[in-house]
Amino acid sequence: MTKTSLATRDLTIRFGGHVAVNKVTCDFHPGELTVIVGPNGAGKTTYFNLISGQLTATSGRVLKDGMDLTRMAPSARARHGLGRAFQLTNLFPQLTVLENIRLAVQARAGLGWRILRPVGRYKAMTEKAEHYLEATRLTGLAHQTAALLPHGDQRKLEVALLMAMEPDIYMFDEPTAGMSLDHAPDVLDLIAEIKKDPSKTVLLVEHKMDVVRKLADRIIVLHNGELLADGKPDEVMESQIVRDVYLGTATEETA
Ligand SMILES: Nc1ncnc2c1ncn2[C@@H]1O[C@H](COP(=O)(O)OP(=O)(O)O)[C@@H](O)[C@H]1O
Ligand SMILES: [Mg+2]
Repeated sequence: MTKTSLATRDLTIRFGGHVAVNKVTCDFHPGELTVIVGPNGAGKTTYFNLISGQLTATSGRVLKDGMDLTRMAPSARARHGLGRAFQLTNLFPQLTVLENIRLAVQARAGLGWRILRPVGRYKAMTEKAEHYLEATRLTGLAHQTAALLPHGDQRKLEVALLMAMEPDIYMFDEPTAGMSLDHAPDVLDLIAEIKKDPSKTVLLVEHKMDVVRKLADRIIVLHNGELLADGKPDEVMESQIVRDVYLGTATEETA
């Protein structure tokens, strides 16, 4: 039996009369990259928000290594290893790339997001930050102000911050959206790199079919908030139900 790192059980959220995520039961495993597909409005982002804690479920449960996180705040879930890619607003825009990454390393070490440096551990944390800087190929930009980075490099910095938090579960919601063609491969290479670590569980919402084919170990399909299909990429993409509800839309979107 494969170990389950993250699981949702009948996970549901209602917005008024609208059920955006409807009884989704699914297990995720270390060493596996699961791509979540589905038309716009299917509930993919809402499902991520329920897992990371930005939204609280109406009913159902979120489990990490068997522990119930359903009622925990996002910060507590992060401490339990759930990692959601940072938004630009989580950056300290006036600080440099390296300083931002060092703060994430510091937060991971349980020292919070204080900008004042804890003197004794400063060197070790800077070295760790430099490691993630290198891993995300941002070394040349270490001393650039985050706010002044081009969009593509900001997205790479977001991945660097996520890696610096050393989560067990990585969640990426359309990480290449709005990126130029020359930047998108960098971020996807980083995700491919993370996926090589057999202890990490990766969830990725992605529309681009070439990306899905390249990275997915498994695909799940959401439609109207429900889990419609779950399996090996080839099987799922070839299934009639997916062709009917998803591929039609996907072709339009990528055309
Ligand atoms: N905070 C909210 N309040 C009300 N409706 C919401 C909220 N968030 C999402 N929804 C609705 O839930 C559905 C799923 O949205 P979303 O998860 O963003 O879809 P996807 O990411 O698959 O495109 C949509 O109908 C959306 O309008
Ligand atoms: Mg979305």
